[in-house]
Amino acid sequence: MKAADRLQRLHEAIAGCQLCPLATTRTVAVPGEGPVGAPVMLIGEGPGEQEDLAGKPFIGRAGTILDDMLTIAGLSRWQVFITSLVKCRPPGNRDPKGSEIQACSGYLDRQIELIAPGLIVTLGRFAMARWFPDQRISRIHGRPARCDSRMVFPTFHPGAVLHQPKTRSLLEEDFRNLAASLSSLPSGRDRAEKAENGTL
Ligand code: URA
Repeated sequence: MKAADRLQRLHEAIAGCQLCPLATTRTVAVPGEGPVGAPVMLIGEGPGEQEDLAGKPFIGRAGTILDDMLTIAGLSRWQVFITSLVKCRPPGNRDPKGSEIQACSGYLDRQIELIAPGLIVTLGRFAMARWFPDQRISRIHGRPARCDSRMVFPTFHPGAVLHQPKTRSLLEEDFRNLAASLSSLPSGRDRAEKAENGTL
């Protein structure tokens, strides 16, 4: 089966997931979206109100800020894969619990395997903690590090700008640095072909 079909199957499984209590409070799950072989995968925290209603990632106010940042990095939405640590909305937009992140982690592992991004951008401290559990975001944001076979680029969550407007300039600077990190990745078309063939 092609990687895109396997991803589709995975997203169907996520849509029906009952692995944690968020399944009882969600409207719909938000698996994420973007192409197999996307050079960049962005990982947020969890769906908010708008995302929970529409089943699409980052379409609310934080999504508008994310779009601005992607533009700064020279990227469009259709080129990247966007998802979150937990695929169902934590009620009232509270932080996801460790048990919920754990329950959902197999889905993220599988997405990373199938999409095979060259670079992962973690948005906020929860996604950062998956790769850098003992770090502080204020210390390591904007600095890519090699983790296993890929680069991981930690930065702030775009939603942070809504509460702390001065975060915006830091986020912008990080996405300018991201553009530089991207120039060393193979082109999107090469990656998409290799991902489909399982040779990435
Ligand atoms: N915040 C996230 O982490 N993900 C979304 O999809 C929206 C807001």
